[in-house]
Amino acid sequence: MPLVTSKEMFKKAYEGGYAIGAFNVNNMEIIQGITEAAKEQQAPLILQVSSGARKYANHTYLIKLVEAAIIETDLPICLHLDHGDTFELCKSCIDGGFTSVMIDGSHHPYEENVALTKKVVEYAHDHGVVVEGELGRLEGVEDDVKVAAGEGSYTDPEQVQDFVSRTGVDSLAIAIGTSHGAYKFKPGTKPQLRFDILEEVEKRLPGFPIVLHGASSVIPEFVEMINTYGGKMPDAIGVPEDMLRKAASMAVCKINIDSDLRLAMTGTIRKYFAEHPDHFDPRQYLKPARQAIKDMVAHKIVDVLGCNGKA
Ligand code: G3H
Ligand code: 13P
Ligand code: ZN
Repeated sequence: MPLVTSKEMFKKAYEGGYAIGAFNVNNMEIIQGITEAAKEQQAPLILQVSSGARKYANHTYLIKLVEAAIIETDLPICLHLDHGDTFELCKSCIDGGFTSVMIDGSHHPYEENVALTKKVVEYAHDHGVVVEGELGRLEGVEDDVKVAAGEGSYTDPEQVQDFVSRTGVDSLAIAIGTSHGAYKFKPGTKPQLRFDILEEVEKRLPGFPIVLHGASSVIPEFVEMINTYGGKMPDAIGVPEDMLRKAASMAVCKINIDSDLRLAMTGTIRKYFAEHPDHFDPRQYLKPARQAIKDMVAHKIVDVLGCNGKA
């Protein structure tokens, strides 16, 4: 099966009240862990690559690893550029075999976001590639860009119809209170998301797929593992899984997960070294890390996203 776009996946997810997991990939073990879980669960999958991941691992290596995953799993897999920030980067990924790109113009003034997104959509659609746009701004760290607490902004539902019709995007990322990274909510406060905004967006764009970034739950088991074995992340807090389930049952068709992969991998490796201080063969510690990713992704697919058996 060749790489697919997310078009069909989103249509079925919207109608079925579930979401597709979009997992960030940076190396072979991460790709293997995610795709082995998806294969066992027969789940459609989005593998996404940030510009940082592309710099780290190299475009060709990532493409070839994803091609290998398709051969091994025979699943519908969409390869997506996460947080593309320029037309040139999006073009390079489209020309280089990606089936989906995000153009994140959310940091630009509205009219500039519209113009940049429209330009990417025109090029992408001419090449059979789909596009995710963003309205509203998430806090947190992505690549080299840090949006400080208080500098994010919720999506204005009044803008979404105009943005979608003028740009022609295929899906839209909105800001309802999630943020990137492992520190999403103030310690001691109750995590809250603006489901009222999601509802308003859904009303204005019936049937249109919405994307939730910053959607890691920052799984406490892995934070605890990191803190037990020499790390220091005491205030790490993520999005409660029941909120993600609620979003998936609404218009959210794509749920982005990166931090949970990082925590699973790092926690497992820290524990491994604490228990085997004399080991130095990378296969010995990468194997349980890959397994931890696989188990965590299977849990997300079955218990949070609800996309098991939908491939
Ligand atoms: O949204 C950002 C993702 O977590 C990717 O992070 O840009 O550090 O690869 P990265
Ligand atoms: P997390 O940091 O919550 O995993 O978010 C990832 C993301 O939104 C990638 O675009
Ligand atoms: Zn993101």
